[in-house]
Amino acid sequence: EDEPQNRYPSVTVDRRFPIISYERLEKQSILGRGGFADVMKARHPDWRQEVAVKCLQAGKIEDGREQEVLYSEARKLKLASKSDHVITLLGVCLEPLFAIVMPYMENGSLARLLRDVDVPWALRWRMAHEISLGMTFLHCQDPQILHCDLKAENVLLDGDFHVKISDFGLSKWKAGSRVLTKTSPEGCTVTHVPPEYFDIDLELVPNEKFDVYSFGVLLWEIATRTEPYKNVVNTALIRLAVTTGQRPNMALVPTDLPEVDTVSQLMQRCWSQDPEDRPSFQECEDDLRAVNNKTS
Ligand code: ADE
Repeated sequence: EDEPQNRYPSVTVDRRFPIISYERLEKQSILGRGGFADVMKARHPDWRQEVAVKCLQAGKIEDGREQEVLYSEARKLKLASKSDHVITLLGVCLEPLFAIVMPYMENGSLARLLRDVDVPWALRWRMAHEISLGMTFLHCQDPQILHCDLKAENVLLDGDFHVKISDFGLSKWKAGSRVLTKTSPEGCTVTHVPPEYFDIDLELVPNEKFDVYSFGVLLWEIATRTEPYKNVVNTALIRLAVTTGQRPNMALVPTDLPEVDTVSQLMQRCWSQDPEDRPSFQECEDDLRAVNNKTS
C-alpha cells in the first residue's frame, strides 16, 4: 500500500525509477516545446544542480497514449544513461502528472550552438566523435535501442561542451518494433529520415542504419552550420529529392575544414542510398577518433 499514487492506470509504476515530487520542483522557464511535451528548466530545493523536466502539454495529459510514450522514453533513457554521452535520467514525477527529470545542460543544444557561435573545428570534431560513442552504446544494447530522431537539436552540451544525446521520444527497441512506415514515419524530421522509409510499398521495421543515415546529415550540419535542403519548399519535395538520390549540398562544406576528405567521405557513406553501404557506428567512431587525433 506504499505504492506511489498514480492516477493514470495505463502507466505501470516501475519501482526502479527514483520518484521525484513534482510539487517541490520550482519551475523557471520553458526550454523547448515538442509535439506533445514541454521541457521546463527547474530547481529542486534539495539539489545544487539545476534540472530539466519533460512533461506532457496541458491539453494532452488526459490521453493515456502520450503518457505511455513518455514512460517508454523514461525506460529507454534509464538504460541508455549508462553511457557518458547520453543524458542522465535523474528520476520521474508521477503526481499530478508523469514527467521525466534530467540534469540541465548549460550549453543548450548543438543546433543552437552551431547557429549562434563559430565553433572551433577541433571542438566540432570532438562533439561528432562523442555522438558516435553515445550511438555505439545504444546500438550495442540487447535489445538494441534505436534513437530514430538523431539531429543537432537533440544533441545537448554540458558546461564543458561534452555531448549528451537526448530526446528519446521517438526511440524504439529494435526487437518487437512496430512498423514505422510509409510516407511519413510519424513525427520524424524529414531531412534526417532515410529514403527507404518513404517507400509506400515497403513496410520496414527500423534498424540501426536509420540512425546512421541521420548521423550523416548531422555531420553535414556540423560541417556547414546550416540546415539541410533549406531551399526546398516543402517536405513532399524533400522526400522526392531524397528518394531520387539527392543529399545535402556538399558544395557547402568548407574546403578549409581540417580532415575534409575523411569527414566528407564519412558523411556520404552514412547517407548511402543502400542501407547495406552505410557503416556501423563503431566504424564512424573509428574514423572520427582518427580525425580527432589529427586535429586536436
Ligand atoms: N532542452 C531539452 N532538454 C534539456 C536539458 N536537459 N538541458 C538544457 N536544455 C534542454
